[in-house]
Parts: sequence; C-alpha cells; structure tokens
Amino acid sequence: MSSQNILFVASEVAGFAKTGGLADVAAALPRALAQLGHRVAVVMPYHRAVRFGKHPAEPTPHVLSVPVGPRTLACRLFRGTLPKSDVPVFFVDAPEYFDRDDASAGRGLYQQTMPGGYKADYPDNAERFVFFSRAVMAAIPHIGFVPDVLHANDWQTGLIPVYVSEALRPQAAYSHVRTVFTIHNIAYQGMFSRGVMELTGLPGWLFNHSQLEYHGHLNFLKAGIVYADAVNTVSPTYSREIQTPEYGCGLEGLLGQVRYKLSGIVNGVDYGEWDPAHDTLIPARYDAESVFEQKPKNKAALQEQYHLPVDVTRPVLGMVARLVSQKGIDLVMSAAPGFLDLGCQLVFLGDGDREFHDQLQGLRDRHPDQVGIYLGFHEPLSHLVEAGSDLFLMPSRYEPSGLNQLYSLKYGTPPVVRATGGLADTIVNASEENIANSTGTGFSFHDYSAHALYETVKWALTLYRQRPDDFRKVVRNAMRQDWSWTRSAARYEELYQQLRR
Ligand code: ADP
Ligand code: GLC
Repeated sequence: MSSQNILFVASEVAGFAKTGGLADVAAALPRALAQLGHRVAVVMPYHRAVRFGKHPAEPTPHVLSVPVGPRTLACRLFRGTLPKSDVPVFFVDAPEYFDRDDASAGRGLYQQTMPGGYKADYPDNAERFVFFSRAVMAAIPHIGFVPDVLHANDWQTGLIPVYVSEALRPQAAYSHVRTVFTIHNIAYQGMFSRGVMELTGLPGWLFNHSQLEYHGHLNFLKAGIVYADAVNTVSPTYSREIQTPEYGCGLEGLLGQVRYKLSGIVNGVDYGEWDPAHDTLIPARYDAESVFEQKPKNKAALQEQYHLPVDVTRPVLGMVARLVSQKGIDLVMSAAPGFLDLGCQLVFLGDGDREFHDQLQGLRDRHPDQVGIYLGFHEPLSHLVEAGSDLFLMPSRYEPSGLNQLYSLKYGTPPVVRATGGLADTIVNASEENIANSTGTGFSFHDYSAHALYETVKWALTLYRQRPDDFRKVVRNAMRQDWSWTRSAARYEELYQQLRR
C-alpha cells in the first residue's frame, strides 16, 4: 500500500494528557501507522499537563493567527515526539484556553469541580474547541507536510471536517485532503447554543437540520458525522448499536442515513505499555508460563496498597474506570453486598461523578477490611489493579470499545463484562461449552441488571475455587489473545486507502 500523510487530531494523547481511552488510542494508533510506513503527525492542545509533564515540548518558530469570533489570537506551536517513536506531536499553545488543568485544584481537561463537589463543564468549552479546530487549520501550512488524511476524534474536533470541506479543500494544494471522523463515545456530543456559530466563522446558513443544527443547538459531533468522508466507531457492535434509539443518543437517525460511510474498528492495545512481562509499574513481572507463581505477589502488593488484609487465597475483584453512569457502577454497588458475602475483596480506582465517589466511600467505610478505594487518577496504580486482581469488573451500560478489558486479558485477569459494544466483540464467555473447547477468555452477561452481574461473578468464583484447572485454562487463554494495534491499524490503513480511490 502506498504511504500516506496522516494528520491525527485529538484533545488528549497518552504520555501528555489523559482522561480515558481516547488518549491511549491517540498515542498508539499514530505510532502503529508510522510503523506501517506512513508519515504521521499529531496535533493536540498544549494543556497544562503537557507543560509540566515528563515528555518535553519545545517551542517552534511558528506563530499562528487564529480568528475566534471578532477576535484574532496569536498562538505558538510547540513540538514534541510521541514516546517510543519518531512521530511529531504539535501542541497548540493558548494559555487562556488550555493552561488550566490542575488536579489538586479540581480542574480537569474539560471540567472543573464546583463548590458543592460536583463536576461541571467549563463554560467556554465551545470557544476552546472552536479555537482549537481553527488553530489546526492554521497550523497545516507550517507542519512540514500536506495531509492526505485528516483524522479527527470525538466532539472536540467535530468541526474539523467542516473546515476542511468549507475552507481547506477549496484551495488547490489541498483539494485532495480526505477526512476521517472517529466516534469514541456518542454520549458526549458538544452541544452548544446557536450563538456559538458566530465564533466559528462558518456561514450562518450551515446552521440547518441537515448540517450543523440539532434541535436548535450547534452540535459538534453531528457536524463531524455529516461532513467527514468516512465515519467510524471503535467496534463493529457499537457501530450497529448507535443506529438504534437505545444507544444513539438522538443521532441514530442520522447514523442510519450515513451507514454507507460508517464502520467499526476495535481498538488495539499498546503492548509496549501494557504487558505484564515487561511492566515496570508492577512488583512481579510474569507471562502465561509464570502467571500462577507471580500473580500472587502482585495481589499481595495490591492488598497492601489498599490497606486490605493480605491474603492471597481471597478472590479480589478489581475495577478501574471513569466513575460515570456508562461504566455500570450502579450495578456494582447493588451487587457488592453479594460479592462481600461470597468472601471477595473489592478494589476500586476511579475518578468521576460525585455521587459515585460518595457511594464508594460509604461502601468502604462500612467494610474497611473487604473494600479498598482510590478516588483519583493514578496511572501506576491502574497497572497494579490489572496485575493483582483475580477478576476485572466492567459491567458497562454501553462501551464503544473499551481498553481495560483488553489489558485484563493480557494480565491474566479475566474480565467480567456486559456483552455490549466492544466488550461483546472482544470477550468470549467462559461458559461450560467454551471452557471445554478452550475459547473462553472472560465472563459475560447480557441483561443490564445487578442480578446478572452477581450470577456471573458467582460462576467465575465457582471455577476459581472449585475447578482451579478450568479457571487457569481461562486465564491462559485470555493471556494468549493478541489485540495488538497492528491489526486495527491495518484496518484504518484500508479505510484511508478507500478514501483515496
Ligand atoms: P474510557 O475511555 O471510556 O474511559 P477505556 O477502557 O477505553 O474507557 O479506557 C480507559 C483508560 O483510562 C484505561 O487506560 C484506564 O486504565 C484509564 N483510567 C481510567 N480511570 C483511571 C484512573 N482513575 N486512574 C488511572 N487510569 C485510569
Ligand atoms: C471512549 C469509550 C471507550 C473507548 C475509548 C477509546 O472513551 O468510552 O469504550 O475504548 O473511547 O476509543
């Protein structure tokens, strides 16, 4: 396949700034595409986390003039490199928009903690990402290559396909540029008042129901879907689900109409970061041969870290998640008394909505010797939870792709998942039959109910305690699965190639 120039745009990139899986994808996919021989560059905001992060960025001589509404802002491009690659990352430096995240002060990349403890979006999010999208357009003549493909991700970059179509492609040098828009999560659409149109500099007549308008609002995600040459989501099942009212969050009709350009590609894992055989963030490294000897050491370390009694015979259920309703925390809360009666320890690592923080805190306070919590973002600890738990809980209400279940496979920690989205596409339920034919890699259920979750965990524990050989078979089988990016990146490559034709 011929090599292409790919400009990848995202609001967060692992190694620099991260709230969830989007960042993991935005780091790993460009790296994998570069390995396939493409010329790739990444653009993201120069968040405070980048400024003070461990991977340095250098100022470039490029100063961009970026219009936002009636104002024009000057902003400098900074430049760094994706860790473990030669892929350049360009950072848009605009302190008034992006130099504000600070966990200790309750300020994240998109939200801030308000006096009552709840989280609210920044009031200027629309302006921040209109600015960012326009800055990306302004950056293109400066970054050293003309993109063949502009690959935008999620609502924050939803206007980029619009600008490409309205402003970039009309210029002869860019008439061949194609756009890909990836939906990582349709629940976040970037919906703003009509007045935001003024900031975009786009012609007012684009604000209509077939283009940028959604029930009187400007909808960034819709804009990306309407304008991109190709739209994809992060698993085949989710790409079908979002065409239904249950999962489409109001955009199901539109997605049905654009089915001809919609596809689903499951995320991969960056095994350079997530492999227990080489993971320096866990005390005992292991592979499929040594897992049963080494994993208990990680389990003991995990129990210690969470101030739980160290007892490697006790099953530990682990969970790492953004604490939002998507992740099925309500099911876990309802099923938790049952898990405790089954003699489990529960460990949680998460950050998110106040109500879930409070509920988890209450659970821990009632059962301090069986429940451990860490409420915050802690990357090293996320590796230890994967490595030290016996089962990983991921009973999501919906899950576009999910990465944690893939990490769990590799760490020999069978995930307990609800069969939706990417979870349905990546986990094979260890039913009696699938144990016999050696295909089971985890445990899954369909109904969104605490009962279904509880019964599934109970079955997993029956294997764990009474049929250890079968449980070990599932663990080994899980560890053998290969979800590396190579395969998924090849699918993106095909998508780019199709657009060229
Ligand atoms: P989502 O993108 O919906 O949050 P994914 O499973 O795709 O779900 O990816 C989540 C990513 O964020 C994983 O890399 C996970 O380890 C990480 N993560 C989530 N919450 C935390 C946390 N509190 N601390 C550290 N890492 C976290
Ligand atoms: C979103 C989804 C998650 C997916 C991630 C990266 O945050 O919730 O399922 O893995 O994006 O694509």
